Amino acid sequence: MKTGIIGLGKMGGALLRGMLKAGAVAPDEVWVYDHHHENVQALQEEYPGVHEAPAEAAAADAVEVLILAVKPHGILPLISSLSEQGADLPLLISVAAAVSLEDMEDCASDGTRIVRAMPNTPCMVLAGVIAYSTGSSVTDEDEEAARRLLSGCGSVYKVEESKMNAVSAISGCGPAYMFTALDALSDAGVAMGLPRKTALELAVGTMRGAALMMEQTGKHPMALRDEVTSPGGTTIAALNTLDECGFRNAWIQAVKSAVRRAEKMEEH
Ligand SMILES: NC(=O)c1ccc[n+]([C@@H]2O[C@H](COP(=O)([O-])OP(=O)(O)OC[C@H]3O[C@@H](n4cnc5c(N)ncnc54)[C@H](OP(=O)(O)O)[C@@H]3O)[C@@H](O)[C@H]2O)c1
Repeated sequence: MKTGIIGLGKMGGALLRGMLKAGAVAPDEVWVYDHHHENVQALQEEYPGVHEAPAEAAAADAVEVLILAVKPHGILPLISSLSEQGADLPLLISVAAAVSLEDMEDCASDGTRIVRAMPNTPCMVLAGVIAYSTGSSVTDEDEEAARRLLSGCGSVYKVEESKMNAVSAISGCGPAYMFTALDALSDAGVAMGLPRKTALELAVGTMRGAALMMEQTGKHPMALRDEVTSPGGTTIAALNTLDECGFRNAWIQAVKSAVRRAEKMEEH
């Protein structure tokens, strides 16, 4: 399916690389436009055959699905300017945080089909989490096409749009929380005398293993935690310290802050 993307930054680049790696799109079916030619050039070196569109409207004209991966404040002006070109727009997939379907539909020509998606950067390694909601003109075929494209990059969930800020605060921002946790854990290892490389490898392997165990056993995290926690042992000593330091509350407050920030962004 001919697929375009406007904005090949951190998220657009991760998403498109995931789709190409998964074979959800072939390089010669892809049209890209980004203000920074070097971003497109780097992708073309990895995937020869990808087309560089000369402008936003040319990308829209060439494709059946167009992903919009510019910063949130750029989304509505971009949709307005594409709509002013007159021609029917392809199915649009916006990945912008905190920009509602209603606002996007208001500045698009009547009947424009828009999907709002919230991916995360692990899409690049086909281990992404992508939630989406559909606009009022999206057909079943459009939704199927969007799901097919996105599911190459990871797990896809349909959610009510009212839950999108919560999704964004968990899985959209989530990789940053995990990287911070990994850095803190490896710092602790270094403080206890491990070489940095070893400490990082132990931390990453442990996070990967714990996530896989949850996925493959289907057990509740607290049940799995119990299996590591011997009475009077070292793990419970560490867990008590995490509790004393407000570990769980810190995560909950962090997610609430991200949601509040998204709500504030929506007001503008
Ligand atoms: N980063 C994440 O982990 C993440 C996760 C979920 C969702 N998102 C969403 O993804 C979107 C992009 O975020 P990002 O982090 O990838 O931003 P980014 O790294 O700044 O990438 C955006 C790219 O698009 C370019 N651009 C902006 N307007 C353009 C236009 N009209 N035509 C062509 N290129 C244009 C930008 O160039 P200039 O810098 O010159 O403007 C930049 O190269 C945001 O809406 C964000 O909410 C991001």
